[in-house]
Amino acid sequence: MERTHKNGELNITNLGQEVVVAGWASKIRNFGAITFVDLRDRSGIVQVVIKTDEIKVDIRNEYVLEVLGVVTKRETPNPNLKSGEIEVSAKEVNVLNTAKTTPLIIADETDALEDVRLKYRYLDLRRPTMQHNLDIRNAIKMATHEYLNNQGFIEVETPILNLSTPEGARDFLVPSRLKKGSFYALPQSPQIFKQLLMISGIEKYYQIAHCFRDEDLRSDRQPEFTQIDIEMSFMSQKEVISLVEGLVKNIFKEAINIDIQTPFKQISYESAVKDYGSDKPDTRYDLKLVCLKDIVKDSDFSGFHAEAVRGIVIPGVSETTTRKVIDDLTSEGKKYLVEGTSVLKLDSKNTLSGGIVKFLSESQQKEIIAKTGLKSGDILIISWGDYKRVSFFLGALRVDYAKQLHLTKEGTYDLVWVVDFPLFERDVEGNITSVHHPFTRPNDSDLEKLESDPLGVSSYAYDLILNGNEIGGGSLRIYDQEVQKRVFKVLGLSDSEVKKRFGFFLEAFQYGTPPHAGIAFGLDRLTMILCASDNIRDVIAFPKNLSGGDPMSGAPTEVDKSQLDELALSLLKEEK
Ligand code: AMO
Repeated sequence: MERTHKNGELNITNLGQEVVVAGWASKIRNFGAITFVDLRDRSGIVQVVIKTDEIKVDIRNEYVLEVLGVVTKRETPNPNLKSGEIEVSAKEVNVLNTAKTTPLIIADETDALEDVRLKYRYLDLRRPTMQHNLDIRNAIKMATHEYLNNQGFIEVETPILNLSTPEGARDFLVPSRLKKGSFYALPQSPQIFKQLLMISGIEKYYQIAHCFRDEDLRSDRQPEFTQIDIEMSFMSQKEVISLVEGLVKNIFKEAINIDIQTPFKQISYESAVKDYGSDKPDTRYDLKLVCLKDIVKDSDFSGFHAEAVRGIVIPGVSETTTRKVIDDLTSEGKKYLVEGTSVLKLDSKNTLSGGIVKFLSESQQKEIIAKTGLKSGDILIISWGDYKRVSFFLGALRVDYAKQLHLTKEGTYDLVWVVDFPLFERDVEGNITSVHHPFTRPNDSDLEKLESDPLGVSSYAYDLILNGNEIGGGSLRIYDQEVQKRVFKVLGLSDSEVKKRFGFFLEAFQYGTPPHAGIAFGLDRLTMILCASDNIRDVIAFPKNLSGGDPMSGAPTEVDKSQLDELALSLLKEEK
């Protein structure tokens, strides 16, 4: 029999037609003389009616069926189904395959543990919601291909087995059999190759690229993920941003049929940290951070002599902010390495209470209330210490409270460019590192202080933020070999290290490098938000779990000694 229709596409216009449908038995209701089967394929579900005295067939959940029947009107239509007004009265039913009882229920709602879902991912992916996610992902990719090809970009693949180059995260390494003792690294991104393609004169490159980073996993991070990677020559930051906005607009329209407004807002890194305590601000709600240092700097309390004293007002949570909540906030602050945290409340008689009130004069208290707009019923969380640490701590609380207070509406999309990033920052060990990557171009006007005041140098970098998530990041690139060498030096790379890691790259710079710029989007993150999910694993067909493993295949696993021997590798004893 040849399938004539998809299940979800059948409707009242097919009434009276003889059809052949196929799919999985997803719900079976047996009423003696009649059996109803919900037959599911990728397009949806259609109800099949089987007269049991005419057709003898044993059907269980997830059996694969082929049904020849006539489309008839349903006595009781089901408004939840696209095909809900009709059903297929079976004339012939063939069981194409049987199925064991599935370890998880194949339905949108599931209470299966994530590791069970990942172990039986092929069944998890049968759930309509997961198929919908893969459809959205595909639509995003199609919209990307369409838009970028129309703009004159071409997709070029870059290698997966590469030289290990320090780019921020830890590399995944692959031992070489042919050159024993040597290793390839999997690409953290195609960054160097796409820049080389600019030197090659490709001018407009893109790639839906697999990237690999050996970092700790989170709900929005995978060790293996996909970027929409873009690079172009001879374009200003303004032109790059406008082109990318066109891409994002096309993606929203094609994938979820939403018209978004361009141009997007732009916020400098400095104001993002100052107002929102984040380099990926969610500007759908206010809750801005306030600087209190000026008001309290002359207090006797030594905490107030720290670099920053900043606060945030959280409305209406005074009563629920118990001693325990305050203790938890204080210990959370310690994780961010702030020096101290305190909570102030205002009673109905306009009197302030809280641990640090005793250090504040009456006029200071009044100024604090006036500046923060604190009202009775609210709390003011004050934190002091290093400016960035305090800001990022309060910024994280801002996001948590916004969730708790339901300050964001579902289905709203807030797109913000963060621009004017500093070129460098200090890592936890106090070393200077790139905020983006070492190829980001320093602001021309700051070039002279590259060595004398590296932390004061700003860059031509831009991140695109969607609802408080960094969905993309990029920059104008350094295209002058000397500037690139100076940046490597500030980053503490010795001449020999630069030669070893980036020699080929610097050499290429000498043969006519055009000014170029680019960006990369996290395809998985973008898909996750457009699918209204908060778990990146829900938009990747075969993701890794939080321990970086694949519960289905068991990877990573030990390998045979013979495989290690071939690679001239041996394991340290304690790790065997
Ligand atoms: P960056 O490191 O900012 O830039 O990465 C670009 C985007 O990729 C996504 N992303 C991730 N998604 C899932 N899991 C991860 N582990 C992960 N890491 C990053 C984020 C991020 O915004 N080569 C540069 C881009 C450029 O300068 O053109 C780069 O890779 O959404």
